[in-house]
Amino acid sequence: MTNARFTLALLALWGLVAACNQTSTKTETAVSAAADSTTVAKKPGWWKETVVYQIYPRSFRDSNGDGVGDLRGIIAKLDYLQDLGVGTVWLNPIYASPNDDNGYDISDYRRIMPEFGTMQDFDALLNGLHQRNIKLVMDLVVNHSSDEHEWFKQARSYRTNPYRDYYHWWPAEKGKPTPRWSFFDVNSDAWKYDSLTNSYYLHYFSRKQPDLNWENPKLRQEVYKMMRFWLDKGIDGFRLDAFQFAAKDTTFPVLPAGYEKNIIKYYGHGPHLHDYLQEMNREVLSKYNVMTVAEGAGSGPADAMLFVDPARKELNMAYHFEGVDLGLGPKGFQLAEFKRLYTRWDSAFAQKGWLSIFLGNHDQPRMVSKFGDDRPAFRAPSAKLLNTFILTMRGTPYCYNGDELGMSNIRFDKIEDYRDVATRNGYQQVKNQGGNLSAFLATAKRFARDNGRTPFQWDTTRNAGFTTGTPWLKINPNYRDVNAAAQDQDPNSVLNHFRRATAVRQEHPVLVHGRYQLLDAANPHIYAYTRTEGQNKALVVLNFSSEPRSWLLPAGLQLSGAPWLNNYPTFTPAATLALEPWQALVLPLR
Ligand code: GLC
Ligand code: CA
Repeated sequence: MTNARFTLALLALWGLVAACNQTSTKTETAVSAAADSTTVAKKPGWWKETVVYQIYPRSFRDSNGDGVGDLRGIIAKLDYLQDLGVGTVWLNPIYASPNDDNGYDISDYRRIMPEFGTMQDFDALLNGLHQRNIKLVMDLVVNHSSDEHEWFKQARSYRTNPYRDYYHWWPAEKGKPTPRWSFFDVNSDAWKYDSLTNSYYLHYFSRKQPDLNWENPKLRQEVYKMMRFWLDKGIDGFRLDAFQFAAKDTTFPVLPAGYEKNIIKYYGHGPHLHDYLQEMNREVLSKYNVMTVAEGAGSGPADAMLFVDPARKELNMAYHFEGVDLGLGPKGFQLAEFKRLYTRWDSAFAQKGWLSIFLGNHDQPRMVSKFGDDRPAFRAPSAKLLNTFILTMRGTPYCYNGDELGMSNIRFDKIEDYRDVATRNGYQQVKNQGGNLSAFLATAKRFARDNGRTPFQWDTTRNAGFTTGTPWLKINPNYRDVNAAAQDQDPNSVLNHFRRATAVRQEHPVLVHGRYQLLDAANPHIYAYTRTEGQNKALVVLNFSSEPRSWLLPAGLQLSGAPWLNNYPTFTPAATLALEPWQALVLPLR
C-alpha cells in the first residue's frame, strides 16, 4: 500500500467498520436487589424516543487531579446531564484495562478501571442517573479482550490449557498463517507470534487485543454471564463494540488480494454471527427491557437489517459508518452525496428496523470540523445546524460529549502529542517504511481520533476546569471561548440550542416516528426534508454552507406558525426562504 493510501486506511478503516472473574452470587443478588428500587420507567420501545449522550470518561471530568477523567467526575456533572435533556448516557469502557486502546482492551470485565474509580462509584453513578430518569448503556467489548486478561494468560501458557480455545491460535509447525490484516498493528499483521507455545494468535486490532473465539460455546456462556452481572445491577443496555467481526471462519481460508480494502466484506458478517446474536438475545437480552446497538453492521442496509429486524430477535438498532466516512475520499464532503446516503438508509429502514444517527464519537474527528465550518465566524451556527440534523432525523440521536458545545479539532503538529494507538502505530509504520511523515501528520490533523478525545471544556479556569493536574491529552486552547460555563449563560449558545433541540424532539413525536421525505435532492447546499405522522408535519431546512442562500419552498408546503427551532434570532416566512450561513430551521407545516 502506498503511504497515503495506508494512512487513510489506518485512520479510516477501523472506522469503516470503523473465571478469572468469579464474583460470588451473593454479591450479585444483593446488588440487583438494590438496583430494583432505582429502576427507571421504561416503556417498550423507549430506546426509539430517547436521546443518547456519549461520555468518554477519560476526558469528561477529573475529580482527583491525576489528569484522567473518572466516575466521580461524571457524578459531579449529573445535573449538567439532566439539563441537556438527554434520556440515556452511553459510557465508553470503564472496565479494568491496561489502556493500550483506552479501555477497549479489557483485562477484567467485572471490575472498574482503578483510574476511573471503584464499583461503589459505579453504583453511585448508576443511581444518580436513574434518579434523574437517565438510563445507562455500557460498551460491550467482546470481539477481543486484553492480552492481560486472565483468559489469555491461561490460554497462552500451554497448548492444552482449558482456556486455549477462548482465542484463535495457529501452530507454527503449520508454517506461516494465512495473512490477516490488522487495524492497529505496526505491520498491519493480525497474527502475532507467541514463543511460549510456538504459535500465532489473532488480533484484528492491536497486539494487546487478541480476538476471542466466539465459535467456542464456553466463551459465549462466560460472556452471557458477565452481561447478566451488569444487567442485574440495573444498567439499561449495551453497545456492541466491533461485534460484526466476532464470527470467523476458523479454517482461515486465503482471502483474495486486496481484501484489506474491503475489510467489512471479508471480516464482517462471519459464519454464525447471527446465530450468536440470536443465542445472546434468547439467553440474556430477552430477559431484560434494555436497548442494544451494534457498532457497524456489515456492508450496507441489507446486512444491517439482519441485526435489527425485530422478527429475528437480535438487537434493537445499528449504526453504519457511511455517513461519517463521507468526506474521507479525494472529493471531500459533498452534500448531495450525504443526502443520498442518509435517504437511502432511511428508506431501507422505513418499514422495520431502527437506526442510530450520529456525526461524531470517540473514533472520529470533531463533527463541526468535519461537516461544519470551525472558523470562528461559523463554528457556532454550523455546530447548531449539525445538532439540529441529528435531532430531527428518524432514528435514535447520539450526541458525543463536547459536540453540544461545538468543540472542534485540536490539530496537533507533532506525533508526540498524540496518545491514540491507531495514530502512533500508523506513524511508526510509515516511518519504518521510509514514507512521507509530514503527509501522515497532515492527514492526522483532519482525521485522527484524538481530535475528538481532548478533555471536555467546562470553563475558563486552568485546564478548562477539566483537571487540577496535568491532563492526559492536551486541552484545546480555544477553551477560553468555547466552554460550558460561558455557553450556559448565553441564550444563543450552541449548548442552549442543543437543550432546545432535545426539548423540541421530546415535545413533537413526529420528529421521532414521522416518515422522512427528502426535498430538492440535487441542491448542493441545502438539505431539506419533511417529517410526517398523521396530521403532524414538520419541515427541516439546513443551509450546509458558509454563505447566505435562498430556498424556494416547494409547491404544496404550507408553513404554520413560528419555527420550533431556529439557530438565528429571526425568521420571516416567505415563498422563498432567505437563509443565513449554516441556518437551520425546523418549521411546523399545515
Ligand atoms: C471500536 C471502538 C474503538 C476501538 C475498536 C477496538 O471501533 O469504537 O474505539 O478502538 O472498536 O475495540
Ligand atoms: Ca482522575
